Amino acid sequence: MNIIQVQDYEEMSEQGAEFLFQEITSGRSKVIGLATGGTPVGLYKHLIDKLKTNEVLLADVHTVNLDEYIGLSDDHPNSYHQYMFQNLFQFIDIPSANRHLPSGTATDFSEECRRYERLIQQLGGVDTQLLGIGANGHIAFNEPGSPFDGRTRVVDLAAETIEANSRYFAEGETVPSQAVTMGIGTIMESRRIVMIASGKEKAAAVKEMLTGEVTENCPATVLQKHGDVTLIADAEALSEIDVKNIQ
Ligand code: GLP
Repeated sequence: MNIIQVQDYEEMSEQGAEFLFQEITSGRSKVIGLATGGTPVGLYKHLIDKLKTNEVLLADVHTVNLDEYIGLSDDHPNSYHQYMFQNLFQFIDIPSANRHLPSGTATDFSEECRRYERLIQQLGGVDTQLLGIGANGHIAFNEPGSPFDGRTRVVDLAAETIEANSRYFAEGETVPSQAVTMGIGTIMESRRIVMIASGKEKAAAVKEMLTGEVTENCPATVLQKHGDVTLIADAEALSEIDVKNIQ
């Protein structure tokens, strides 16, 4: 794994945006997998600036998000559809038909999951996938115990994930307990993966991902088996490991 060690959240955001910007403008990546959560917010700000400053045309770029909460409609303020609109899509010229997320309100979720897998295939697969990491080592909403060959499916969220994500919801509002998520098998088929991580609450998961046994108990460890992963992490997220001994 290629590790880019940066000072802090701001530098991680800038470097992460530059990584995606280079993928897009070089023409290497036409299908970009996107992530949500607190971590990518700064990256999206920088990416918007870079795309606008350089007047980059995005007509033939597609984005494919990792996941969505079950039960939240596309216009619910806490849905990942809204997150993507508020943090990225409203500011850039990517055609709305090219922005893809799983639906959290499908009438038939088995069919929705199959549709999402088909869509990714029809697009030719994900060229570059952006990932964050959960404090318990989850990637997308693949919680500990998720199969490494899993495809897009409905999952129950771990209690600690519901607790961690409750900070984004208004007081008293129920955090959904299920989600539709790309599977680990789906994610591993991405040609290139860039993970961003910031803060000491991610340090244990980052250490496990880089140095732990590859096991479904810590989903992110699967990335040790992918041939093209770049981790951009700040000093706090890397505080439990000696980077020199890993690279
Ligand atoms: C969320 C998302 C993940 C994200 C992770 C970390 O629940 N499903 O895609 O990487 O948890 O989130 P945050 O960046 O807010 O710490």
